[in-house]
Amino acid sequence: MKSLVFFDFIWVLIGVNGFGSVYNSGKVEFSEKPLGYKEPPIINVIEASDGNGATCLPNYYPLQDYDPMNPKSVPTYNLPKYDESFRVGPNLELDPDVKILLDSLTLEEKAGQMVQIQVGMFLGCDGLINVTAVEAIIDEWKIGSVFEATQNHGGRWNINSPQRFANLSNTIQSIAIRKGSKIPLIWGLDTIRGANYVKGATTFPAPVNIAATFNPIHAYNSGSIGAKDTRAAGVHWAYSPLADINRQKLWSRNFENFGEDPFLVGQMVYQNIKGLQGNYKLDRSKVAACIKHFIGYSDPQNGKDRDPTHIPLQELAEYFIPPFKKAIDAGVATVMEAFGQLNGQSIAISKKILRNLLRDQLNFNGTLITDWGEVNAQWERYFTAFDIDDSTFQALSNTSIDMSMTADDIEYANSTINLVKSGKIPISRINESVGRILQLKKDLGILQTPYSNPSLIDTVGSAQDVELARNAARESIILLKNDCNVLPISKKDKVLFVGAALDSIGYITGAWSVHWQGATELEGNDVFGGYGESILDGIKKITGDSVNYIRGYNVSGFKVDDYDHILQLARKADKVVFCLGEKPSTEGIGDIDTLSMARDQYEAVKNVAEQTSTPIILLLAQNRPFLLGELSKSACGIINANLPGPYGGLSVAEILYGEVSPSARQPYTYPKFDSQAQLVYYTPIANNYDPEFSFGQGMGYNNISYSQITVNSTDLRPGSPISISITATNNGKWIQNEPALMFTTQKVKREYVPERHRLRSFRKQRILPGESKTFKFSLSAEELSFIDEKLDSVTSEGPVIITINAFNKNSMSTLIYLHER
Ligand code: BGC
Repeated sequence: MKSLVFFDFIWVLIGVNGFGSVYNSGKVEFSEKPLGYKEPPIINVIEASDGNGATCLPNYYPLQDYDPMNPKSVPTYNLPKYDESFRVGPNLELDPDVKILLDSLTLEEKAGQMVQIQVGMFLGCDGLINVTAVEAIIDEWKIGSVFEATQNHGGRWNINSPQRFANLSNTIQSIAIRKGSKIPLIWGLDTIRGANYVKGATTFPAPVNIAATFNPIHAYNSGSIGAKDTRAAGVHWAYSPLADINRQKLWSRNFENFGEDPFLVGQMVYQNIKGLQGNYKLDRSKVAACIKHFIGYSDPQNGKDRDPTHIPLQELAEYFIPPFKKAIDAGVATVMEAFGQLNGQSIAISKKILRNLLRDQLNFNGTLITDWGEVNAQWERYFTAFDIDDSTFQALSNTSIDMSMTADDIEYANSTINLVKSGKIPISRINESVGRILQLKKDLGILQTPYSNPSLIDTVGSAQDVELARNAARESIILLKNDCNVLPISKKDKVLFVGAALDSIGYITGAWSVHWQGATELEGNDVFGGYGESILDGIKKITGDSVNYIRGYNVSGFKVDDYDHILQLARKADKVVFCLGEKPSTEGIGDIDTLSMARDQYEAVKNVAEQTSTPIILLLAQNRPFLLGELSKSACGIINANLPGPYGGLSVAEILYGEVSPSARQPYTYPKFDSQAQLVYYTPIANNYDPEFSFGQGMGYNNISYSQITVNSTDLRPGSPISISITATNNGKWIQNEPALMFTTQKVKREYVPERHRLRSFRKQRILPGESKTFKFSLSAEELSFIDEKLDSVTSEGPVIITINAFNKNSMSTLIYLHER
């Protein structure tokens, strides 16, 4: 678990020094002259603390200063374009110069490369860099990597501007190239939807929203802009994306993944990695992506983060592995293993998972890192090892882990050194890992230019990027119910808006934004420093009026206003919009026991439904699908906005007021009862699938009719894919971005129960009012194969229904026959 305790750092603050000597790596000469290797670029920072007088922050310091620096945020920019049309990824062989560098290192230096430390270790008690500590850690521990953002670890600044972040990372790098192994560090950061830890950087909607767009270009954009803004801060490695599938609706981390369907997750993961990495061996605006969490993390039995998972191997292979395979196909440079246990075995020390499956079967050649403190957790938490030496021994001998995110200590390196010296672990095992780490550093250009590229700083927060984030948000908002055309709202309507989430940028963004757990209540919108807008701001922009708004209940659903007052206001209104939010959270801090909604919030809506005749619209902006109970019937309109991000306020308002027709679909099953927390749409046909909202459900304001579903052959044989086409007509008055989802259902699958539906393809097209557009798909027999109990991929002959837009009123089907040969 991450440490929330600030200033538990053992180094005593000596002072905050500036320094600027000229350093020489002294390790290996590269053929090209290292660019900027000797002198870090100078980036001006106002209000920088200097001098030796140490002023310690109070022990508990929740409200850090707002960094007064802003990126210039040029309106538009052009970066050099690199060819991204082919697969760029880690190779099995090391480059010759990397091999020379590896051979030049001592055992201690190699062991240090395998350790990653959180940046809080480099801070003094004033929240600023403690150069003495940095020098000591790098010189004595010889660490290879650092990660995280200072605002999560007692940093002086609430959220660092790219300038200040770059100066921090540049300073640390200039120490790394003259101390310890004299090899620059690689810095990892949770850039999960844009560079969410860098002030001014364009934060995209949460990945669950990106999935809801059914338009993978948004996954690409979020990755690509996130990479550039991360790199501007001098950081080279994004701990993103998640290839976990949403299987347990109670779990606090589903908003970080791309929904419940393996195909959808795979498509989004693929494009997100392309955006993050592009041609990362040449392009210095790109970063290494890190696919996580390998594997099975997302299905904790009782819904609590890091609880054990039990997934039959057949099911693991059918649903959980494919998105990771897709990431490896995309060329992902790194993988993070998952916390905890799968089928009773501890993942971080499992040969089966981290060597046989990841390396031998999935052919992953890149760098593998542990999740936070997982080697220590073996003996401290899981009781799978006697002590740190035993944990390290098992991690090294059983698995192919390259780097340990120890976070706070060097014990992993010390144990590694002892194990090699005592002959228990061969040096070849260490070389295997250190070679991969050094190759990654070379591929990212860190060995040549460890510093931030100052030319990227001005592009951070560019209007060009913000527009892409808004577009993603616009396409991510799902219209689920619209009785009597209560939506869109007319500007003439007198509307009462209720709910704290309407007035907050932080609540519609969620966790992993300015902080690990998102913006705090005390920080409010200020911490976003003008980079974003709330839903109320968006509404004001559209209506030009002040908004008739009452908080009613706080973000956790507890009453803050007199409910009779809400009733009075509701009676006077033409429509009431209740926004149902959830306090931002993730990981263990976000654990819950039930999906039941907070009682006060439920009562607020119920009172208005029972005691007034004013139509109700529910606007959901939550981390998780809380149960709507009777409210789903009493509401005339329901919109699921999930977590559209800091630029989602205007997008939500545009949907509410009909400036844009909604075009998103549910990327997960929305349960009706707690007992449906693990229900997914690919449940067996014989099972009851009657959730509140189905996977794939959603509509726009237009009436879109589908016709002429055709197949070029009704016989599907291995090696001969068939083509399917269907025409969609926009009978409405809005422009419609229309996603068409193609599902298959095998009517009979001998011996193995067929699933209700499986998503095989999807496409999105823009259809003008009155226009018709054809959607074309292809389908192969291989795509209809499944994993049997021998873990072989097999097909089973029989009739198959192809359904476009299953779970929606305008769905259409046709029948084909699948042949085994
Ligand atoms: C999370 C990872 C994250 C890491 C570093 C862990 O607690 O599980 O997803 O990348 O912290 O912040």
